[in-house]
Amino acid sequence: MESSYIRQPIVSVLGHVDHGKTTLLDYIRGSTVALREAGAITQHIGATEVPIDVIRELCGELLKGKEFTLPGLLFIDTPGHHAFTTLRKRGGSIADLAILIVDINEGFKPQTYESLMILKQYKTPFIVAVNKIDTITGWRREEGTLPERLSKQNDLARSIFEEKIYEIIGTLSEQGFSSDLYTNIRDFSRNVAIIPISAKTGEGIPELLMVLVGLAQRFLEKHLTIEKGPAKGTVLEVKEERGLGTTIDVIIYSGTLRSTDTIAVGTREEPVITKIKALLKPKPLDEIRDPREKFESVEEVHAACGIKISAPDLEDVIPGSPLRVVTQENKNEVIREIKEQTELHIDLDDEGAVVKADTIGSLEAIVKEAKSRNIKIRKAEVGNVSKRDIVDASATNDPLQRIVLAFNVKILPEAEEEMRNQDVTVIKEDVIYTLMERYEEWVYKKKEEIERAKKEAIPRPGMIKFLPEYVFRVSKPAIIGVRVLAGRIKPGMKLMKDDGRVIGTIRSIQSERKSLDEAIQGQEVAVSIEGPTVGRQIKGGDILYTDLPESVVKKLKEMGDLTYDEKEVLDKIIEIKRKTVDRFWGL
Ligand code: GTP
Ligand code: MG
Repeated sequence: MESSYIRQPIVSVLGHVDHGKTTLLDYIRGSTVALREAGAITQHIGATEVPIDVIRELCGELLKGKEFTLPGLLFIDTPGHHAFTTLRKRGGSIADLAILIVDINEGFKPQTYESLMILKQYKTPFIVAVNKIDTITGWRREEGTLPERLSKQNDLARSIFEEKIYEIIGTLSEQGFSSDLYTNIRDFSRNVAIIPISAKTGEGIPELLMVLVGLAQRFLEKHLTIEKGPAKGTVLEVKEERGLGTTIDVIIYSGTLRSTDTIAVGTREEPVITKIKALLKPKPLDEIRDPREKFESVEEVHAACGIKISAPDLEDVIPGSPLRVVTQENKNEVIREIKEQTELHIDLDDEGAVVKADTIGSLEAIVKEAKSRNIKIRKAEVGNVSKRDIVDASATNDPLQRIVLAFNVKILPEAEEEMRNQDVTVIKEDVIYTLMERYEEWVYKKKEEIERAKKEAIPRPGMIKFLPEYVFRVSKPAIIGVRVLAGRIKPGMKLMKDDGRVIGTIRSIQSERKSLDEAIQGQEVAVSIEGPTVGRQIKGGDILYTDLPESVVKKLKEMGDLTYDEKEVLDKIIEIKRKTVDRFWGL
């Protein structure tokens, strides 16, 4: 007996909501009914196996005369677009290939960008299926190759098609991928193949399968050759099943799993070691009489496949964790390996955002993406946003770090409560790409805000005239009416005369009995000034200037946003200082 064999490549379908992932897989599954003789497509738990004979039959002329050693393709029906990050294994994804599906009318959407970002991170080879071509105005279903079918369309349909494809090629290029219609590609290892399809009419699906099989055969054959050892797999879902208790849906990507095996699976704590009760496959639909008989027990399964496992103690298993068969010899090694893989491998920064996410896989994807965008992260954990996270985020003097990024998790009520007491922002999203975009926007706005506040805190030059007819109080403090001749004045500013003598500090500014934060050029207001006595240090008609420290003058010059008037006042202030303090003041 041979000790190794070639397994089916595992193919994952990704894309934005409603772009047609399920319809595509349904179409591929449905087409089997007409092709019974070729050997049916088998339904697995969480996966669909399409044997090479079925692909041959579907592809007809396209694959005639081609030799394949692949036994077929295993499509994973990932529930929701996040599931791809659950399919992790050390150093990458268990998916050998991926189909990125894009609605031809909508083009790239947030989840498409996110899918692409994750494919990039995992270095998973992929093709782009541009779906729903049947909806192009005037499009007709024709026979033949893609160029033949295109040439039979009317001008409008063809030009819409070409424009949309061109846009998608452009977007892929912006994202760092060189792509083209598959018919124009010579080197499939360097260019992403675009295959126009309709998941509804089936147009283009034979070509999609042909390209997938060709890619797998050419570039993955070595990688798909596996040993006939004990099984390795990844948990796709943890599910409660009536009559069975907690079960796990697993994709086996290597080796053999037997119904008598003892397995180890990852949890949040120590890996659980348990003996399999049953290996379960879904029964063909027409054989299910009672809903409790949904599954059929099998003795053993071989990679690659999807299988449901019933066993005790699976309650704490987390999706995305590895599964290994345990033997007397490998027990310690297996436990070490599982622990290693269920732990987070993340280098955190000393500063930055707090991140909470739903799974280890998504957390890793977020941290990687953040790194590539130069976003710093100081805490990253799986779980809902708790009070602790808000407190951690608030424990910094830097307003740019008072931020929690929440991906696909809840904000607990205790955390909401704490948010009322703390100046902490939580951004909650369920698309990584959008989460990053919103965070970057927030940082930008926050920085602007801080900049503005800083600017506002810097005293500006101002020149006022003491209106002689308005003396409300002579001293302690003196309250007088003034007109702002140029620039602005604010409470807290010191005032000086044109001989450089400081006469006091503005305590408050009032106009029509209201306190003002500042008064600007042209305003007539009442000011209270701590220090002078009217008639002694100041008298009606005096011109007073704000007394600016030299450091402020330098900063104002740097900022370069003074108005013409302010500049004139500043020059006057500098002139006074040079006369009275030193010749080089403000240089
Ligand atoms: P989610 O699982 O919700 O993310 O969506 P999905 O990507 O699985 O999309 P789904 O297959 O559910 O398709 C969404 C809608 O688009 C359905 O109404 C489909 O019938 C329709 N649809 C999918 N593919 C095609 C196509 O090729 N042509 C047309 N006309 N409609 C399509
Ligand atoms: Mg779907």
